[in-house]
Amino acid sequence: MIETIDFASLIHPAIAIAFVFPLIGIVVNYSLQTRNRRKALAKGEKSAISATVGTQHLRLGRWLSNSVVGVTLIGLAYPIFSKLLTASPEQQNGTRVLLLVVLFILTIASLVLLNISNGKVQRAGFATLTGIGLVLLGCQPEVFRRGFEWWVSHYYYGMAAAMLMIFSLAIFPEIYKDRSQTWRKVHVTLSCIALLLFISQGFTGTRDLLEIPLSWQKPFIEQLYINNCQTQPCVVQPQQ
Ligand code: HEM
Ligand code: HEM
Repeated sequence: MIETIDFASLIHPAIAIAFVFPLIGIVVNYSLQTRNRRKALAKGEKSAISATVGTQHLRLGRWLSNSVVGVTLIGLAYPIFSKLLTASPEQQNGTRVLLLVVLFILTIASLVLLNISNGKVQRAGFATLTGIGLVLLGCQPEVFRRGFEWWVSHYYYGMAAAMLMIFSLAIFPEIYKDRSQTWRKVHVTLSCIALLLFISQGFTGTRDLLEIPLSWQKPFIEQLYINNCQTQPCVVQPQQ
């Protein structure tokens, strides 16, 4: 039996797979064409690649950055609000729920302002605010961060990828302005790291889907943990 809350847990992975990952493929394809075209022209050769590939890379790259931050916010919102909703009345704290909703709204507002602002200082400021918003939401106790094996953590790699995408959004105008190409090199290096993080998100996310029980299974798993894992070494880990 699958409850509504279990279906809600699929929103984040479904958007990541159906929307974000295809976008990554398109953005990377355009990025390679942009680089090949630039290299050919720099050597004085003619290039068969269209002159619009750079603009297309940027246009879809901006979509990608925003959707990665969006999908990260959904990934954080689900554990936070699903656990708050199912908590016992004594554990529920109205003020905290309100503050969390305000934090989500402020983070989204900073992202929107980052997209529409032009000045260097404004972009740096709104990028920092968006990043701070994500970190504060990620620090909530409901979020499973896998700190005991952080090197395979969906949370830490996902946050790192989101930060790199925010950084790309903040610096891309500098790529065009900078004659020394330093920003271009910084962008390519960081984007290659982001690409590796995206691939690892595919692995760690599917593993997490295997590990998280459906809501009706949860009490049984918890009982198993109580029965077995507090008295002997056990591979099952508590969620919090
Ligand atoms: C996985 C993600 C990404 C990868 C692998 C990637 C990679 C690249 C590469 C290889 C280039 C060509 C560099 C060269 O000419 O040597 C490039 C250019 C560029 N990228 Fe990205 N990028 C990514 C995401 C983004 C995002 C999210 C943005 C903006 C928000 C962006 C903005 C740009 C811009 C403005 C250029 C210069 C385009 C031109 O010369 O017309 N990229 N990127
Ligand atoms: C761009 C790619 C992705 C990013 C940036 C991302 C980011 C995140 C973040 C920050 C969280 C919250 C922390 C956590 O619970 O681990 C999360 C949760 C989760 N993600 Fe992803 N994710 C991505 C792709 C995927 C994919 C492809 C899948 C599965 C196929 C997936 C499955 C999950 C699951 C199952 C959770 C746990 C929700 C919970 O704790 O109840 N994610 N993701």
